[in-house]
Amino acid sequence: MATITDTSPLIEGLSEAALIAARGRVVAANAAARELLGTSIEGAQVERVISHPAALEAIERPTSAADGVELTGLGDSRRHWLMRVSPVGDGTALIRFVDRSEARAAEQMRVDFVANASHELRTPLATLIGYTETLREQADEIDPATRERFLAVVHDEARRMQRVVEDLISLSRIEAEKFSAPTDAIALEPLIDHALASARRMAEERRSTLERRVAPVLPRIAADGSQILQVLDNLITNALRYGEPGTPVTISADADGPMVRLTVADQGEGISREHLPRVTERFYRVDTSRSRALGGTGLGLSIVKHIVERHRGRLMIDSEPGKGTRVSILLPVAA
Ligand SMILES: Nc1ncnc2c1ncn2[C@@H]1O[C@H](COP(=O)(O)OP(=O)(O)OP(=O)(O)O)[C@@H](O)[C@H]1O
Ligand SMILES: [Mg+2]
Repeated sequence: MATITDTSPLIEGLSEAALIAARGRVVAANAAARELLGTSIEGAQVERVISHPAALEAIERPTSAADGVELTGLGDSRRHWLMRVSPVGDGTALIRFVDRSEARAAEQMRVDFVANASHELRTPLATLIGYTETLREQADEIDPATRERFLAVVHDEARRMQRVVEDLISLSRIEAEKFSAPTDAIALEPLIDHALASARRMAEERRSTLERRVAPVLPRIAADGSQILQVLDNLITNALRYGEPGTPVTISADADGPMVRLTVADQGEGISREHLPRVTERFYRVDTSRSRALGGTGLGLSIVKHIVERHRGRLMIDSEPGKGTRVSILLPVAA
């Protein structure tokens, strides 16, 4: 049977924080454990090192079937750990700390996402139910003009729900494919022209001009054409939507080493520093009611981000409040 001193090199080889406890004391700890719990834990009493009642209970009475104990507040208080105790005989136990912070953050994101998505659908649904009830219950009293107005609201709200659902489906499709980077060699120019043609009407409504500045020779990119079109549509719509009416929106593209840089720039209110890191989150909007009034779902930039990630590209947003926003993406040149 291995003695306690023999086990030190063994735990030193583990990448996770690990220690050996025997008779209420820490008898060995690896570098990761010393970093997490303190440099002088070897020889200390276990209850001084880990002051969580549930954790101490698990160490004193380890069961081989235990899933471990979830801990927060060890070292950096924002991190979450799963403590696993494995008895190695002789009243000695191997204690390991598995960092669960990322899994917890992902879990939290999933919970928030479901809550946000439900909320986004519940609001228009309530309006829809309210209006259709009124239309049915007071059918005889409602004049044709009011009826038309109510039906227009019902239609708009139904369309909003449709946009949310379509964007959600789009997002989940892109996520499902994220490990397979596109390999088709695609010419960017026709996609830019297509996106510009689709945006023309909105630009006219906003009295904005669309300026196309594309390098005369552009290498083909390794891309999924319809996803790049989706990116362009999202970025140009944002630039028109949040740009100052009457100001130009510029779409430029040029080669940058092994990548092609695509930029959409507007002159408008911009995005302030505190909002900037969050605008690519699902459903995040700087001004929710305004985005809603303009038909936004708050999913556009998160779709852009996922598409760019799938392409092994980069997304950069520079913005100066009061001046404007410049969104650039780098996409790899086709092999
Ligand atoms: N060019 C821009 N200028 C200023 N603010 C912007 C710009 N682009 C995006 N934003 C801000 O970022 C938020 C998120 O953008 P995103 O494209 O994800 O959603 P949306 O435009 O509100 O809705 P959707 O794109 O789903 O129709 C917007 O609500 C807006 O507040
Ligand atoms: Mg948008």
